Formats: sequence, C-alpha cells, structure tokens
Amino acid sequence: MSTNNDNTASTLIKHDFTDAEDPFALFEQWLKKAQDNEINDPTAMSLATVDSRGMPNVRMVLLKGFDRQGFVFYTNFDSAKGEELLNAKKAAMGFHWKSIRRQVRIRGNVEIVSDEEADAYYASRPRGSRIGAWASKQSHPLESKYALEMEVAKYTAKFGISAIPRPEHWSGFRIVPTSIEFWKDGAFRLHDRMLFARKDSSDSWRKTRLYP
Ligand SMILES: Cc1cc2nc3c(=O)[nH]c(=O)nc-3n(C[C@H](O)[C@H](O)[C@H](O)COP(=O)(O)O)c2cc1C
Repeated sequence: MSTNNDNTASTLIKHDFTDAEDPFALFEQWLKKAQDNEINDPTAMSLATVDSRGMPNVRMVLLKGFDRQGFVFYTNFDSAKGEELLNAKKAAMGFHWKSIRRQVRIRGNVEIVSDEEADAYYASRPRGSRIGAWASKQSHPLESKYALEMEVAKYTAKFGISAIPRPEHWSGFRIVPTSIEFWKDGAFRLHDRMLFARKDSSDSWRKTRLYP
C-alpha cells in the first residue's frame, strides 16, 4: 500500500505545514482540504474525556464551530460526556482524515458557549433534530425503541407548529486549546509531526517538531 501520494499541490501544503507559525490558520487549511476530499463527515472528531474515577472515555462528535477562541461542538449536558466535561473541564480531541492521511490532535480546557451562540446553532438545526434534543435522554438506559418514538411523538405534539426552544440541557462546549499537533503521513513511517503548545489562551504558541 502506498503511504504517501504527494503531488505538486500537496508538496506546497507540506511546505506551508512545516513553516506554519499559526496553528489556527493551519487547522483551517487542513480542514478545508479534508472537506474537499473526505467522502463524508470531514468535521467528525474523536472526543476524549475522563470520568470522576479517572477512567478515560471516547466517542465521535461533529465540530460545529472553530475560530481563535477554540473548537465547538454541541451535545446533551446530562449525557456521560456532558457530566465528564462539566466535572473535569478538560478534554482532548482527534481528527483523522483518511483520504489525505493526516491527523490533528488537540488538548485543552473546556468552556460552555454563550446562550446566544447555542441558540443560534440550535435554531439552524432541522426541526426533527430540535425535537430529538428534547426527546433523547442521551446516555441513559432506554427500555425500547418504542419508548423513544413515544417521546418524539410527545414533543412533536407539544410544540405543534410553534417555535421549539432550546432545552436547558442541550448546549455547546468550546475546547480552548493548549496544544495542537499536526501529523502528516510520510514514506516508511517517517511522518511529519509538528506540536504547537502554550500554557493558556493568553500565552503565545511554541512550535516543536517531534519524532514520528
Ligand atoms: C460521526 C458521528 C458524529 C457524532 N456527532 C455527535 C455530536 O455532535 N454530538 C453528540 O452529542 N453526539 C454525537 N454523536 C454520537 C456520540 O458519538 C455518542 O454516541 C453520544 O453523544 C453519547 O456519548 P456519551 O454517552 O459518551 O455522552 C456522533 C456519532 C458519530 C459516529
């Protein structure tokens, strides 16, 4: 299996990658490339948390916003991840884009997005998804699929054709990064790794190349 299918265009990006000083700009560039190449869900990322006993947990979520403040996704705050994030206030996340053979790893502190930001995103979701946010007690035991369908029917009837408010238990988390590592596949497993790290969001980034 080929491990590196660089053409002239991606060689240029590789040059940008090793020279880059701004991890947010580099992430934006890589995400754009992933969006142009991945067959689905280029914004899918693994989200790692830790529970109150120190046991790690991981699952996929979708990145729904990203800027210099951090990386935003939405979920149910009463879910396992919600409770773990509210408790530990730290998380890690990983992107793996198979089509372009790249990985980005991010670690950082967790904040809750503003109500205005969460309302705006919630309002942009399809009506069925907004009802689903009310109907699903995410991560809690569900006795049957029928019980979930009954919850969906209940909230569909309750809201009728009126506006559906955002449930209090449903909002977004922002991971404010303290490290962002870019990984690009190389021949014979001699991959390129570039780690950007800082103490907190007021600090400047330090860049270190890592052995593969
Ligand atoms: C590609 C993909 C994207 C997902 N995106 C989200 C998401 O954005 N938010 C969310 O709450 N769950 C999302 N899920 C479901 C989660 O992986 C998980 O099953 C759910 O959130 C419950 O996780 P928890 O019990 O650890 O809280 C996604 C699953 C997949 C496979």
